[in-house]
Amino acid sequence: MTTSAFVTGATGYTGREVVRLLTEAGVETTAHIRPNSSSAATWEEQFRTQGAAVDRTPWEEEAMADTLRRLAPDILYYLVGITAKGARKAEDNPTYESVDYGLFRLLLEAASRAEIRPRVVYLSAMGVREGAKTAYYRARWNAERDLKESGLPFIIARPAMITGPDRDETRVGERLGGALADLTATGLRLFGARRLADRYRSTDNTELATALVDLGLAKDSDNQVVEAEDLKRKENPSG
Ligand SMILES: NC(=O)c1ccc[n+]([C@@H]2O[C@H](COP(=O)([O-])OP(=O)(O)OC[C@H]3O[C@@H](n4cnc5c(N)ncnc54)[C@H](OP(=O)(O)O)[C@@H]3O)[C@@H](O)[C@H]2O)c1
Repeated sequence: MTTSAFVTGATGYTGREVVRLLTEAGVETTAHIRPNSSSAATWEEQFRTQGAAVDRTPWEEEAMADTLRRLAPDILYYLVGITAKGARKAEDNPTYESVDYGLFRLLLEAASRAEIRPRVVYLSAMGVREGAKTAYYRARWNAERDLKESGLPFIIARPAMITGPDRDETRVGERLGGALADLTATGLRLFGARRLADRYRSTDNTELATALVDLGLAKDSDNQVVEAEDLKRKENPSG
C-alpha cells in the first residue's frame, strides 16, 4: 500500500526539501500552501512537476478537517513557523503563539474531527523546554506538550540553526548565528567532543529534510523527541 503525507509549511526552506524527498521516496505527497502565500507562484508549479499534489485549504478548522478526512494521510508534517521579520511584514499581526502554536493546535483539532490517526512530525527547535521564558520557546513547548497529550503517534524534531546558501531571504541573523555555531562546533571537535559538536553545528535543509523523511517513514520511530545531533548525517568518524 502506498504511504501518503500531508506537508504544511511546504513552501518553507525545510518544507520544500521534505516535499521533494518524499516524492522521490515514492510517497503520495500533498504540499499544503496557505491561500494568501506569497511563495505560491514559485512553488506550486515546482511541486506538481516533482509529482506532489498541491492543496490550498485555508487555515480554518472545519475546512482543514474536510481536507484531512478526504486525504487521510499516514504522515502529517508541521513545518510552519514565523520569524520576527516575517511577522512585522504581515498584515494580520501573526505571533509565535498564533502561528507556531495556534495553527498547530488547529491542525490537531482538525485531525481529531476527521477521525484520522496520522504519525505527526512536528518541527520544533533545539533548546525547547518547559518553563522557557521567551514567547518563541513557550509556543514551541506548548505545541510539543499538546502533541504528546493528543494520543497520536508523534515525532518531535529539535534542530539547531537551519541555514544554507540557497535560502531565498538573506536572514543575516541566521547566517551569523549559523557561522558562530559552526565555529563553536569546530572547536568542540578539536577537543574530541564529537557528539556535542554535532549538536551545535548548523544544518541545511537537505540534511534536515532527509532526517525528517526517514523518521516519518521508519516503522519503529513513534513517540520520540529527536535532538539536534540525531538529525545530522553521520560524519566520517575519522574526519
Ligand atoms: N531557521 C532556523 O534556524 C530554525 C532553527 C530551529 C528551528 N526552526 C523552526 O523550524 C521552522 C521551519 O524553519 P524554516 O527555516 O523551514 O522556515 P521558513 O523557511 O521561514 O518557512 C516557514 C513556513 O511557514 C509558513 N508560514 C509562515 N507564516 C505563516 C502563517 N502566518 N500562516 C501559515 N503559514 C505560515 C511559510 O509559508 P509562506 O511561504 O506562505 O510564507 C513557510 O511555508 C521555523 O518556523 C522554526 O521555528 C528554525
